[in-house]
Amino acid sequence: MAIRNVVKEGDDVLRKTARPVTDFGTRLHTLLDDMAETMYEQNGVGLAGNQVGVLRRVVVIDVGEGLIELVNPEIVKYSGKQEEVEGCLSCPGEYGIVKRPMAVTVKAQDRFGEYRTYEGEGLLARCFCHELDHLDGVIYKDKATRMLMPDEIEA
Ligand code: NI
Repeated sequence: MAIRNVVKEGDDVLRKTARPVTDFGTRLHTLLDDMAETMYEQNGVGLAGNQVGVLRRVVVIDVGEGLIELVNPEIVKYSGKQEEVEGCLSCPGEYGIVKRPMAVTVKAQDRFGEYRTYEGEGLLARCFCHELDHLDGVIYKDKATRMLMPDEIEA
């Protein structure tokens, strides 16, 4: 495994639409392993392919309940509302308030191409939405109702 460079806001790759994964071989497994290692090393809770410069529809998430790998993910159901603070490894030091569904169901393939369904509430639901947006070139700041001021951010 290897730590990959996390692309920062301003780089075009964050604004591009990632392509579906069609090959579930070693390259994909290495990518997913590297993305997880990079996410943990940066103390993040999620990372999308675009953020490591790879325009493929892959996401890793861990909100403290174990690693989730999503390949070609889609939101198939959502309900409720929440409005909470988000940040992003591609926009270090910044935080904003974003409206998201309270609960989200995601259908995705695993690293072997098998279809699986995940249900997330609260932080996990937010994370699903935030990371899936990255695959379509969307950054949470595009949707933020407002960004936090420096004196609102806890050191
Ligand atoms: Ni992000």
